[in-house]
Amino acid sequence: MKIAVVGREGQLAQCLRIQGRARGHYVHAAGRPDVDLTKPETVGAWLDQVKPGLVVNAAAYTAVDKAETECEQAFLINATGAGELSRLCAAASIPLIHISTDFVFDGTRRRPYVETDTVLPLGTYGTSKAAGEMAVQRACPQHVILRTSWIYSAHGNNFLKTMLRLGAERAELGVVDDQRGSPTSAHDLADAILEIAPRLAAATDPSLWGTYHVTGAYETTWHGFAAEIFRQAAIRGATVPRLKAITTAEYPTPARRPAYSVLDNTKFLETFGFALPDWRASLSRCMADVCPNQAPGQVA
Ligand SMILES: NC(=O)c1ccc[n+]([C@@H]2O[C@H](COP(=O)([O-])OP(=O)(O)OC[C@H]3O[C@@H](n4cnc5c(N)ncnc54)[C@H](OP(=O)(O)O)[C@@H]3O)[C@@H](O)[C@H]2O)c1
Repeated sequence: MKIAVVGREGQLAQCLRIQGRARGHYVHAAGRPDVDLTKPETVGAWLDQVKPGLVVNAAAYTAVDKAETECEQAFLINATGAGELSRLCAAASIPLIHISTDFVFDGTRRRPYVETDTVLPLGTYGTSKAAGEMAVQRACPQHVILRTSWIYSAHGNNFLKTMLRLGAERAELGVVDDQRGSPTSAHDLADAILEIAPRLAAATDPSLWGTYHVTGAYETTWHGFAAEIFRQAAIRGATVPRLKAITTAEYPTPARRPAYSVLDNTKFLETFGFALPDWRASLSRCMADVCPNQAPGQVA
């Protein structure tokens, strides 16, 4: 099938392009400057030309801290831009998969968030993404919103790559241990999207439209995530730092983050029969790409 992906160079967009083509789909991924969510005319012309059976919006303003000072730009891309894309999809009767975030929640719960829980973002990024969700819901009836969390991959910038870089530079690293969530491999999320895409494009079952949570299985803290990264890196022969558990208060950031943003994936599993693997197993697959094996006697 023909899938149009907005956000060419992003982590998820790159995985969709590579894995979609491997599955035999025609994946047309586009991004700035050719296709810019803040310039709906570029998006409209592209959709007219590609005529996809499905659109995935993998583009977003994702700089969580910078968003606190670039509020207007975050809303222009994540809310207005998402809404314009949705309007164009609806006008052409193209189903849309839109990606959202665990940061739409305030993190005060201590059980995994379900789709119907109240959205109450703490920062500008989360607020702009929540506004984007509403814009998609209003403009495009044939939509699926996938809320995910803590994305990492071999592409772009992410926590995994930051840890490996800092770990190679420093003897000791302090990482926040009082924020809980679920690391999600962009590769796994792309698999999930490509798995459900044909069903959504067929559009035979209107009950499929709506919002779903889809993340890596099981939860941890950022410190737990880092500890597993360095455990696996050490096995691969990398030099790793001493890891210190610190609190959010000891690592102040411009944007407040939810202390608990684990998402319940039951609805996605029950609807589509598909769940993402244990985040530790997925991390191990990604490590092969980002941390070449240097252990003596082992083949890189
Ligand atoms: N990263 C996470 O931890 C995380 C967690 C939860 C949810 N999400 C959501 O998951 C989705 C994918 O995230 P990701 O990590 O793959 O993102 P990413 O790597 O930061 O990539 C985002 C992409 O969006 C593109 N983009 C930004 N503004 C645009 C515009 N006006 N028009 C067209 N493209 C634009 C960027 O293009 P440029 O290269 O031109 O900047 C970039 O390639 C996003 O919706 C994000 O909000 C991410």
